[in-house]
Amino acid sequence: LVIPVILCGGSGTRLWPLSRSGFPKQFLVLSGDGSSQSLFQQAVERIRTVANKEIQLGSTLVVTNEDHRFLVLDQLRELKNVDATLLLEPVGRNTAPALNMAALCAQQIAQGQDPILVITPADQTIQNQIAFTKALQDCIQTVQSSDDAIAILGITPTAPETGYGYIQRSGEKDQNNAFTVARFVEKPDSKTAQTYLAEGSYLWNSGMFVLKASTWLSAVKAFRPDIFEASQKAWSCKSEDSSGGIGFIRPGKKEFSAIPGESIDYAVIEKCPGSQYPIKMVELDAGWNDLGAWDAVWQVGQQDVSGNVTSGDTLLTNSKNSLVHASSRLVSAVGIENLIIVETADAVLVADRKHSQDVKNIVTQLESQK
Ligand code: GDD
Ligand code: MG
Repeated sequence: LVIPVILCGGSGTRLWPLSRSGFPKQFLVLSGDGSSQSLFQQAVERIRTVANKEIQLGSTLVVTNEDHRFLVLDQLRELKNVDATLLLEPVGRNTAPALNMAALCAQQIAQGQDPILVITPADQTIQNQIAFTKALQDCIQTVQSSDDAIAILGITPTAPETGYGYIQRSGEKDQNNAFTVARFVEKPDSKTAQTYLAEGSYLWNSGMFVLKASTWLSAVKAFRPDIFEASQKAWSCKSEDSSGGIGFIRPGKKEFSAIPGESIDYAVIEKCPGSQYPIKMVELDAGWNDLGAWDAVWQVGQQDVSGNVTSGDTLLTNSKNSLVHASSRLVSAVGIENLIIVETADAVLVADRKHSQDVKNIVTQLESQK
């Protein structure tokens, strides 16, 4: 049994002011990307394409924040026939505790079998669906044919980005198109990222990976027993109910809040190469984009002849290579270049495209003023 796990409890601060704590980026329909679905909806549908005669899919586990349950429910109901279970976190403790809940829930669903988890973030776009499905099937086969392997989708890097994990491959592809992974480094500094890029054997971590539920539980127990034990406690105090065919599971509130916050990558994946949990990597060449910041939204957007991406009521003259979004009124621009302008009813962002990663600093400042 293969169980899709969608991690969608992040806050997406770099896409402020469109992405808000009440409506984070994974639930936005970024019309510029040519899809009428939100990033979350795209993630749910994309992953379900791996089903075939050998790969039988179970209920999709959606791990998100309690505050976003109605958003998730509405968006799931817009999709047809999705069998889903919502795991609702009282607070965000980053992705390692989220995956721990999902692994425990998957074992419960599989009733004694050891299910395979296919984990995906909910904040990405992928152009070539067919190539994606094939690469993910290769990952599933890799995990099916070994004891404790973790199979990751790797992306050929195009710039020394510091917001990604870097995966160093070694040797040649095996029969499932998987390389052995020699090293995994989460979010290196810019100098290190540059040397990795020049080196040629490093790929970006897409954040999508496949492993058995038992592998995750055993690896997190080995590397971060504190997270493992606190998560077990929170799970043992869970409550369950359902509405309209969709199940809700809530871990114990006090107990979940006490779990140390850490990402999957820092807590476990970085420590796996060379351990009893080998990492395998399948290359994904499918027009992947992590819509991390506004510059990425501009890149995947439908650019006009002057390289502008616009949405809403906008009017531009003599302007180039900019992204302009209007939510609530006309936004016009004259003679601008390489700018991001995002208008909403209560906040407007104007930023240099090159500095769009720094938008998160604005959110940090706003939060500290609260
Ligand atoms: N349920 C839950 N709870 N989900 C969370 C939480 C949480 O506390 N925090 C983040 N998420 C979700 C986000 O919504 C997103 O879909 C996914 O988990 C990944 O979290 P990000 O915060 O977006 O991680 P990142 O982009 O900094 O880094 C990860 O993704 C990169 C690729 O996009 C890492 O895995 C990197 O190694 C990777 O390169
Ligand atoms: Mg991300």
